[in-house]
Amino acid sequence: MGKGAIKILGLSGSYGNDSKNTRLVRLALAMAEEAGAEIQFWELTEKPLPLVGEEGCWQNENVKEFQSLASSCDAFIVSSPEYHGTMSGVMKNTLDWLYKDHVGGKVFALMSSLGGMSNSNTLNHMRVCIRWLHGWVIPEQVAVGHIKEAFDDDGNLCDDEILSRIETLVASLVDATKRLR
Ligand SMILES: Cc1cc2nc3c(=O)[nH]c(=O)nc-3n(C[C@H](O)[C@H](O)[C@H](O)COP(=O)(O)O)c2cc1C
Repeated sequence: MGKGAIKILGLSGSYGNDSKNTRLVRLALAMAEEAGAEIQFWELTEKPLPLVGEEGCWQNENVKEFQSLASSCDAFIVSSPEYHGTMSGVMKNTLDWLYKDHVGGKVFALMSSLGGMSNSNTLNHMRVCIRWLHGWVIPEQVAVGHIKEAFDDDGNLCDDEILSRIETLVASLVDATKRLR
């Protein structure tokens, strides 16, 4: 008997729909949907996650919903801006709300954006963090440098090579998820 469509949750390391990382995640999710996946995006503006450790955080309803949604998903598409050479605090705090119980053995695809030149710092740091959650990060990854110029006025990516790298990333994520779940 088939297992049904794979479920993918998108996470952005910046708030709001104007965030370039949110755009990257939504673009990748749309590709995954084309490939037959069920997709969800955690919208931090609508459902903020408290800082881990702040007063009342352990009883927070958004946290419970977030962890339950993550538990119900098979794979994750994650994108963070690079801040001072690493992932944003928002991204790290989001990952800090996830544990092996929610995401262990599940598949992750990583992207990052940079104001300056593209590099792999944030991708590598997220890869290490997700290893601690017992997640499986696929080898393909995408860093988008000079992010202010990356999208045109219609919201489309200007560079076809980046688009093609995201397509490859998503195809690999879908394939790996079907194999591993
Ligand atoms: C606090 C802070 C630190 C930043 N540090 C870097 C950096 O180290 N390298 C870099 O290329 N861009 C840096 N930037 C630019 C961000 O990477 C850029 O604004 C972000 O990728 C845009 O994504 P967003 O629209 O999703 O927020 C920094 C921006 C902020 C606000």
